[in-house]
Amino acid sequence: MNVLILGGGGREHAIAWKLNKSPIVNQIYASPGNAGIDQIGLCIEIDLSDFPAVKKIILQHNIEMVVVGPEGPLVRGIVDYLNLEQDLQHIKIIGPNRNAAMLEGSKAFAKDFMRKYNIPTANSISVTIETIEQGLAFLENQYPPYVLKADGLAAGKGVLIVDYQKKAEATLREMLEGRFGDASKTVVIEEYLEGIEISCFVLIDNNSYKLLPYAKDYKRIGEKGTGLNTGGMGAISPVPFIDQNLSDIIENEIIIPTINGIRQENLGFKGVLFIGLIKVNGRPKVMEYNVRFGDPEAEVVIPRINNDLMELFLSITNDTVSDVQLNINPQSAATIMAVSGGYPVNYTIGEEITGLDESESNSSVIFHAGTILDKNSSILTNGGRVLSVTSFGRNHYEATERSCRRLEKIHFKNKYYRTDIGHDL
Ligand code: AMP
Ligand code: GLY
Repeated sequence: MNVLILGGGGREHAIAWKLNKSPIVNQIYASPGNAGIDQIGLCIEIDLSDFPAVKKIILQHNIEMVVVGPEGPLVRGIVDYLNLEQDLQHIKIIGPNRNAAMLEGSKAFAKDFMRKYNIPTANSISVTIETIEQGLAFLENQYPPYVLKADGLAAGKGVLIVDYQKKAEATLREMLEGRFGDASKTVVIEEYLEGIEISCFVLIDNNSYKLLPYAKDYKRIGEKGTGLNTGGMGAISPVPFIDQNLSDIIENEIIIPTINGIRQENLGFKGVLFIGLIKVNGRPKVMEYNVRFGDPEAEVVIPRINNDLMELFLSITNDTVSDVQLNINPQSAATIMAVSGGYPVNYTIGEEITGLDESESNSSVIFHAGTILDKNSSILTNGGRVLSVTSFGRNHYEATERSCRRLEKIHFKNKYYRTDIGHDL
């Protein structure tokens, strides 16, 4: 089969790397892809909101499966578009339709869904400019800090946590008046939860579901979880504090009610659901739903799956997920993201990257994120998150240590990475 992967981050490289090991996969294409995916497939630069351009690539290259990496095209309805095109009826797609993608595309929708199906989550209220008084009254009854979330997609920047009530009130007004454009015309105000976050991934078809290994990502730029939030600076899997008891609670109180809700609401979700959990006083609550793999969680979860990823994807499209026997590598995996200095605020791109030679590899895998091949065949930085290095170990300390050793040999100007991924556990 020829596969088209939409996206160009570390997550998409991890998907491409794993699909490349499948005997059923013929040629891998990616749009836009990156310099890492380019080594195993063909990258085609397009604008992912240009659905007819995606269709053109599918027809031109005899694509039989499309894997949608990021949330943007899903929320904008790429799956619905491809499903409706007469000459694309044979295409298999990994990713949910627009209605199901609302679980990520609208935080207000997700909160209503959780309330309706009794799924544990933070208390909240959704407000618009017309109902701002209710929002102010809700803030009045909260303890600081205050959590304000733009309803729609805001490139990972739409969640604001503020310390003082007056500031929260002003922030609420700013958001409703368009701080994040249409995305913050509705704002979800939420009770602040103190706890430890866990990423949970579930393969879902029309009949059944399968839980993938848990992961934990590290969002802050600085060591010991300090500084600004980023797209993710590293991840580990498995998560050592998740024992069978906690896993059972997550499955019974969160995953099963979520799947039931998806069925009851006829959302027709087929793909990977990412449940962002927070453990508060031993009990898991849902922080958010995403409708795709996490990044950088994919860079640890996917390498731990021994099954053929294409077979797993086909089980989703064929509604046979319940027949899958997952075979998971019991070792610990850690991934560490190397970023351009100054990320997530100001950083330069176009810096040459050296030290990527596989002979240096020593059992670590390098997943490219913001990289690009220039006309002289040099690999240059092309984003804030540049690449991540995944390694295995007997525990996450050993795995992190191995990734750090490998990263020391990779060079680009102003390279920065955290050396403490997993050290809090
Ligand atoms: P979200 O996009 O909803 O996952 O929010 C992004 C990040 O903001 C989360 O990963 C948390 O670190 C933080 N966050 C979101 N909601 C809350 C909350 N209710 N209490 C504390 N932190 C939160
Ligand atoms: N690592 C969090 C995300 O992919 O949204």
